[in-house]
Amino acid sequence: MAIERYVQALPKAELHLHIEGTLEPELLFELGRRNKVKLRFPGVEELRRAYEFTDLQSFLDIYYEGAAVLLKDRDFHDLAWAYLSRAKADGVRHAEIFFDPQTHTSRGVPIEAVVEGLCAALKRAQRDLKLSSRLILCFLRHLGEDEAFEALRGARRYWGSLEAVGLDSSEKGHPPKKFERVFAKARAEGLKAVAHAGEEGPPEYVLEALDLLKVSRVDHGVRSIEDAALLERLARERIPLTVCPLSNVKLRVFKELREHNLGELLRRGLCVTVNSDDPAYFGGYVLENFLAVRRALALSPRDMAQLARNSIEASFLAEAEKSRLYAEIAALPLPE
Ligand code: ADE
Ligand code: ZN
Repeated sequence: MAIERYVQALPKAELHLHIEGTLEPELLFELGRRNKVKLRFPGVEELRRAYEFTDLQSFLDIYYEGAAVLLKDRDFHDLAWAYLSRAKADGVRHAEIFFDPQTHTSRGVPIEAVVEGLCAALKRAQRDLKLSSRLILCFLRHLGEDEAFEALRGARRYWGSLEAVGLDSSEKGHPPKKFERVFAKARAEGLKAVAHAGEEGPPEYVLEALDLLKVSRVDHGVRSIEDAALLERLARERIPLTVCPLSNVKLRVFKELREHNLGELLRRGLCVTVNSDDPAYFGGYVLENFLAVRRALALSPRDMAQLARNSIEASFLAEAEKSRLYAEIAALPLPE
């Protein structure tokens, strides 16, 4: 079996995926027409050409702008269905999906349209693609604590449909501690916690995410490498880092993929996983991320299997389901 086919066939969980970041330019224009939303780009090509980012903020500006075409249940369904079908082709068996309610409710879109549209697609994927999934409600960290509480309360009727809360958007200057109380409330209501930390922000933000927000895993976390004690703790406690290699290059966290620290984190025994973050903007879905790091960092087929195993371990799946997937990974013959 060729290595590409092997990596595709490995059962994988995608754990760091913003559903709004899967909005491909073609669907964006289709929804713009359907909803009569005027766009400042004449067409798909011009929009794609604008995807030249210098840092996280330069990406977020255009990403929030694109989300303006999402208005109705059906739009959220179509968006999630397109992603889930694409993920299936990459060998994704389970996806834990972020969404940003504040991006939509601030434009007058009811939370019902967002969650019900997404849930309809997730249900359809379980039935028709045998792909399981969970939803993670993210707070926008460039907004305040009050707004985060409002977002959590606004989604109250859907708490039972959510797996966890998360924290995303502009990292620098917005430490996790700003959200300590709203995370405590969410955890008290039975939700798990994850947070973006150590993407552009310092390792202290990773520590805050662990100690104040009590996260089960850290999204990105690549700057943890700057703090030896933190790195040891992440390895010892097997706290997963959901790493997004192509995203990190597009947003200039690393200049080139060859300089990425994923291989080193793996060698140091951390539970690192590979994910696509915002694939419509960063030029690759999860399989492309796996294959790109394999090439750039000279990772072996065993490393690919370890990354797939880590994604299952780091997921919120039940232990019995994890065991089934580990067995499938172990049963796949390694490529020559
Ligand atoms: N929202 C979508 N993608 C993000 C990222 N990579 N970091 C922070 N917030 C995000
Ligand atoms: Zn992200």
